[in-house]
Amino acid sequence: MSATDTLGRPLRDLRISVTDRCNFRCVYCMPKEVFGRDHRFMDRSELLTFEEIERVARAFVGHGVEKIRITGGEPLLRRDLEQLVERLARLGDLDLTLTTNGALLAQKAQALKDAGLTRLTVSLDSLDDAVFRAMNDVDFPVRKVLAGIEAAAAVGLPVKVNTVVKRGLNDDSIRELARFFKGSAHILRFIEYMDVGHTNGWRMDDVVPAAEIVQTIDAEWPLEPIDPTYRGEVAQRWRYRDGSGEIGVIASVTQPFCGDCTRARLSAEGRLYTCLFAVRGHDLRALVRSGASDEELAETIDRVWARRTDRYSEIRSEQTAELPKIEMSYIGG
Ligand SMILES: C[S@@+](CC[C@H](N)C(=O)[O-])C[C@H]1O[C@@H](n2cnc3c(N)ncnc32)[C@H](O)[C@@H]1O
Ligand code: SF4
Repeated sequence: MSATDTLGRPLRDLRISVTDRCNFRCVYCMPKEVFGRDHRFMDRSELLTFEEIERVARAFVGHGVEKIRITGGEPLLRRDLEQLVERLARLGDLDLTLTTNGALLAQKAQALKDAGLTRLTVSLDSLDDAVFRAMNDVDFPVRKVLAGIEAAAAVGLPVKVNTVVKRGLNDDSIRELARFFKGSAHILRFIEYMDVGHTNGWRMDDVVPAAEIVQTIDAEWPLEPIDPTYRGEVAQRWRYRDGSGEIGVIASVTQPFCGDCTRARLSAEGRLYTCLFAVRGHDLRALVRSGASDEELAETIDRVWARRTDRYSEIRSEQTAELPKIEMSYIGG
């Protein structure tokens, strides 16, 4: 079965959040004032088990999903995560990847590779230790994330590096990051700061447009655009004219790409969201725990996707930023 939504978009990617917890408190995602004390995280019993995730993921693969990304919160905080990777890897010939802050990567890289992970994305917002420590807000040093990236590369996992740019915080880090990863095997991608959730106090003025990021790098190392690898690729790709690799920019705010969005998102407690900016998710956990058959599960996914109308980023404004939305740490980016 292959599902298409009301705007003709197929279902191709599934992002699975495995926890809402994190060992960082990135200021643009889980600001300490909100998530530091008294925040109610999910109970273990609320989380989908690995068996339940596998079952739901299998139904998605049956609907044409080719790419699965494990995310969070911080996914490496979920105990024995490699066991989930192993289960998902058995579902077919998938692009099976993971997004992590890298803090626990050095000790986990080999197990993840052995379990069948195909590649991963590491978030790193600055090489300047003071800036990075201030952004993760738990005083975590850059060098440990770099050690994680090296460990992943050493076991043969291709790594992409994601940098969220927030005006006045790390826009001065763009050039240094580009210099560092230029010519390396790791593709660096800059992400526009988005109005996910409510806790980060997003303002349009805090967004550094992708075009400005490209200009900053191009001024020092000339760039030229290159074609996307596939339809719906979120990053716009740019190549260094001197042949030393490429960078990507994800312009979700200034040049939204809802028209090509083929992503579904499963929260850690088993809610299915058809947009990063959705308010309500469909409770697949209730379905799974009520003893529904595989057919019922498949029909539900089909029905939810067939009704999908989401195009939030294309209609975003300062006003829509005020609308109720779920947090990035909950839905997983
Ligand atoms: C929510 S995190 C979850 C995975 C993992 N903890 C990590 O940081 O890689 C997934 C991605 O979302 C990005 N992100 C979080 N909040 C964001 C925001 N407000 N705007 C843009 N990207 C954001 C993070 O930088 C990260 O690359
Ligand atoms: S971006 Fe990732 S590492 Fe940072 S607080 Fe959010 S979930 Fe944690």
